[in-house]
Amino acid sequence: MTEQMLYHGADYNPDQWLGHPDILARDLALMRQAHINVVTLGIFAWPTLEPTEGDYQLDWMAQVIDNLYQNGVQVALCTPSGARPAWLAQAYPEVRRVDANRVRQLFGMRQNHCYTSPIYRQKVRLLNQQLARRFGSHPGVILWHISNEFGGECHCPLCQAAFRGWLRQKYTTLDAVNAAWNSKFWGHDYTDWEQIESPAPHGENALHGLKLDWRRFVSHQTLDFYKWETAAIREIVPQAKFTTNMMYHFDGLDYFKFAKEMDIACWDSYPTWHKPGEPEAETALDTALMHDLMYSIKHKPFWLMESTPSTTNWQPISKVKKPGMQLLSSLQAVAHGADAVLYFQWRQSRGAFEKFHGAVVGHDGRADNRVFVETAAVGRALESLQAVSGSKKPQQAAIVLDWENKWAMEEAQGPRNAGLGYWQELQRHYNGLARAGITVDFVNEDSDLAGYKLVVAPMLYLLREDFAATLRAFVAQGGTLVVTYWSGVVNETDLCWLGDTPHHLTDLLGLRRTEIDALYDGETRRCTAVGAEMPPAATGSILCEVAALAGATPLMQYAEDFYKGSPAVTRHPFGAGKAYYLATRFEEGFYTTFYEKICAGLFPPAWPTPLPQGVHATRRAGYIFLQNFTTQPATVGALTIPPYGTQLLEAETHTSLCQCSFAPADAGVQGASGQVN
Ligand code: GAL
Repeated sequence: MTEQMLYHGADYNPDQWLGHPDILARDLALMRQAHINVVTLGIFAWPTLEPTEGDYQLDWMAQVIDNLYQNGVQVALCTPSGARPAWLAQAYPEVRRVDANRVRQLFGMRQNHCYTSPIYRQKVRLLNQQLARRFGSHPGVILWHISNEFGGECHCPLCQAAFRGWLRQKYTTLDAVNAAWNSKFWGHDYTDWEQIESPAPHGENALHGLKLDWRRFVSHQTLDFYKWETAAIREIVPQAKFTTNMMYHFDGLDYFKFAKEMDIACWDSYPTWHKPGEPEAETALDTALMHDLMYSIKHKPFWLMESTPSTTNWQPISKVKKPGMQLLSSLQAVAHGADAVLYFQWRQSRGAFEKFHGAVVGHDGRADNRVFVETAAVGRALESLQAVSGSKKPQQAAIVLDWENKWAMEEAQGPRNAGLGYWQELQRHYNGLARAGITVDFVNEDSDLAGYKLVVAPMLYLLREDFAATLRAFVAQGGTLVVTYWSGVVNETDLCWLGDTPHHLTDLLGLRRTEIDALYDGETRRCTAVGAEMPPAATGSILCEVAALAGATPLMQYAEDFYKGSPAVTRHPFGAGKAYYLATRFEEGFYTTFYEKICAGLFPPAWPTPLPQGVHATRRAGYIFLQNFTTQPATVGALTIPPYGTQLLEAETHTSLCQCSFAPADAGVQGASGQVN
């Protein structure tokens, strides 16, 4: 595959249409018309590739790949392990997943196979090797798409044994396990490895250390399965490149660990555009966070692997994208570092679960409807933006997003079991920074912080000693750190740190936590500024931490309840840098002002002057994308950006390079073309 190219494509399932050669032929013509240059192929095609055990039928796929290649369409070849054939589930019950209640699932649905089962692994390996031998050196096959949206967990006896093996490797002795989990609590000491079981609704739920290790194991075992799949292919195609599609706000897997085994990161994005009460610019920030996460986990361009050209069919209300939104949201991905925009799906299925999901080609098979016309406009826009491909983003601020921290925090019985909203907390910091035009990366507790000027550590409940040292060194050397409430509470096995907290950070922050008050949903505490640096007033929610100052300067304080007068925002110098502390979760607007103030002079923002409401500026290498997420034209200096329009500029000189928009008037008009100037 070429690294210097913007791809435009779709999820293609010709196995559903093999009885309709006319449709398959028409697909090729339509793909040319839609400016499609890549497809993901055969993601759920296992029963067509191996209709009965050991009977491999690959000729149809060879024909499809050849036809696509001759028509300028390259292939990300899928391994179809996400859904197994019925014959396999029938012959080998062990491949079917067992739920936490220890009930084995019946055949059906997808993404519900056991990741440990030796039989499943063997069958997947044999099929992957058939695909690799036949297609691995085809010039049209540029990438391997492993399975689909890995996730979920299996509690079968094979997985229990694997979990115990993983624990033995990690801890060596049961004494070490008991100590790490504080098993003495309720007298849950283990005296035999066989006594250890994964968490269950009718079993162990009290040992938080066990629950945390189980989540680590599930992530590890899923990644091990992914590696098993890639190894089978790599044995035959050493130069093969791999990816697997990730998901929005997905909790189950540590994507930082996955990224190490992937050549390209990618994700499936289905934002709820046009939601009443939520301006599109807000939905855009929510999506942008995920784009930036995907860029961050490999520090290089990613792929938008799935998006709908029109509507989903699984959201509570599946709204169609209004004219222009497909182009705008596709270019938003590119602005944030995507080198590919793909859709789910190319052609709408006739029956079953996704028959009403949007597709580039609907049941009418036509090319003169709005969705198809707009898809072609995206294709042309990407062709005109090829120069952007492969380009990097500036390194400015980093937010710590650590899956192990999230798991530990959410498994714990603590001050607010009604929900801590880790993603919401991250989003508020992200939004504040993004609104200030600052490029945000995400890091975890294994990351190196060199190169960043600002690091934000929201709710770093599980704080490893080594990462605390990394944070200290970062500030000592001149960095600016923001730490929030509910940080530095436990170690890596969820044992509370003894002594003053936030552990390892008290001297850095110049304070220590003394108490923490949990608020009901909707309950708030007023805070007021001390001095003129912060907004005059703000409102705390969720958790209100009470701290005793030991050198930090209070910038805001609580204005009510028994902790009235104790600090709500502080700043403390440490070495050549400084550390801010936020004692509670403030309302969204606070973060905009806070980051504007603390970032002034730290970085050049993507755009030097304030932008109109709903316009976002994003920097990628030498380019600035100005995007108008409103339905009204926006004026930025001498430029007018149409509704849902994107203006691309040269970063240093602000010279206009091109403008991409899809005029609502074009909708549904035969031959209409999105404007790309
Ligand atoms: C994704 C999945 C696709 C398709 C799509 C529908 O999560 O990977 O196969 O189901 O959702 O929006």
